[in-house]
Amino acid sequence: MKKALACVVLAAGQGTRMKSSIPKVLHTLNGIPMIHYVLRALAGLRPERVVVVVGRDNRKALEEALGSDAVGFALQRSPLGTAHALMSAARALGGFEGDVLVINGDTPLVSTGTLRRFITRHRRARRGLSLISFVAADPAGYGRIIRDGSGNPLGIREEGDATAEEKAVKEVNSGIYLFDSGTLPLLKKIRLNDKKGEYYLTDILEVASGRGIRCGVFCFGDETEFIGINTREELLRAQRLLRERTVRYWLERDVSFMDETSVYIHPDVVIGRGTRLYPNVYLEGDTTIGSGCVIYPDVRITDSTVGDGVTIKDSSVVESAEIHDDAVIGPFARLRPGTVIMKDAKIGNFVEVKASTVGEGAKAQHLSYIGDADVGRNVNIGAGTITCNYDGVKKHRTVIEEGAFIGSDTQLVAPVRVEKGAYVGAGSTITRDVPAGALAISRSRERHIRGWAGRKKKKRKR
Ligand code: UD1
Ligand code: MG
Repeated sequence: MKKALACVVLAAGQGTRMKSSIPKVLHTLNGIPMIHYVLRALAGLRPERVVVVVGRDNRKALEEALGSDAVGFALQRSPLGTAHALMSAARALGGFEGDVLVINGDTPLVSTGTLRRFITRHRRARRGLSLISFVAADPAGYGRIIRDGSGNPLGIREEGDATAEEKAVKEVNSGIYLFDSGTLPLLKKIRLNDKKGEYYLTDILEVASGRGIRCGVFCFGDETEFIGINTREELLRAQRLLRERTVRYWLERDVSFMDETSVYIHPDVVIGRGTRLYPNVYLEGDTTIGSGCVIYPDVRITDSTVGDGVTIKDSSVVESAEIHDDAVIGPFARLRPGTVIMKDAKIGNFVEVKASTVGEGAKAQHLSYIGDADVGRNVNIGAGTITCNYDGVKKHRTVIEEGAFIGSDTQLVAPVRVEKGAYVGAGSTITRDVPAGALAISRSRERHIRGWAGRKKKKRKR
């Protein structure tokens, strides 16, 4: 039978080295809290349960931030070290039997694939306890792996307790462990480290092997996956590594970058082949971009779907919107939640669209607000048109049917409908439905008073 898997994320620490009032694991990489990356990597393993160990000080912030991640929480009452943190999860694990993967919450670059390989190696070797080590270019701050002459792991020495000789060791602890649940009770045997006043989880290696438990230390090559973030400088380094990894991934999939150092792509984003990204582009959340698109500078797209061949020009913001093939958006456009832009439509500069559908081939090229509207195919919306959707209490819809022409500077006072093929004269305020094919015009009649200017001048002289 397949062995069950549970995961414990240690996140109760105060993160004092960040010098911040925000809990360490909520500091962000590319705008996403680092613990989300850890939970995402764990979710890929499809564990039976995930427990996040939180502290008294960060409990509220973490529960709020992770509320939707379907994880359990365990409280570590005081920050007495990583072994004590893991013991605090015992109740939440509630007699779980199987493999328990333990990971520090400050290790966001680890991938599901690496964790899966680790689990496979641990199970094949039939260990009671395993951990991932890696070779660090600069091992400072990490626990060093101490091995005997034949290379068998003896224990882990934390920086503060290491001799000069031990400090020279470059093989270090990643903070990722796999326990057979039967090994967990040995945590109680870990003694307090007097220097720090903490119970070190790292001591479990010595304790367990001393009791005849088969322990394995698996050295994984790529140090960039295991970087532990304790300071803001390390956070920046991790962010850079993450960005480089993401860029490499998309380069291999025919996406091109004009300046890869200024483009930020969230982990769930999907981009089609042949799409080109200019500098300062942010692709966030649950966003899909089609193939052959061009995204010009300073564009932010969040939780949106963009079809093929779409052009999004400079300084546009797209949130929870849907843009169909070959549409052209911007420059300086704002698409707010609930916007659907159909094929070949054009949304130009200083146009804001919210909770509206803009039909195939329709155009709103300049300075308009389209809110709570259904705009049909091939409608032309002139510059400065506004749907007046809000009466101060309720929102109302505007319907503009296929092929209608809305003259510049029109106000459409909703609820209102402009039927198929109708025209609205420039500068009109439309409050009643306009029948199909009609011309609606509502503005005071224009008068020309001859000689008026000359008479005014004379008056002033007198
Ligand atoms: C730890 C390891 C070190 C390893 C490194 C990898 C220990 C003693 N040392 O050091 O061997 O090389 O990670 O990055 O484990 N935490 C709690 N409760 C506590 C203390 C910490 O939940 O009482 C949590 C923290 O929130 C953090 C994680 O445990 O997410 C690790 O703690 P941290 O202080 O970052 O340990 P390091 O000094 O990085
Ligand atoms: Mg750390």
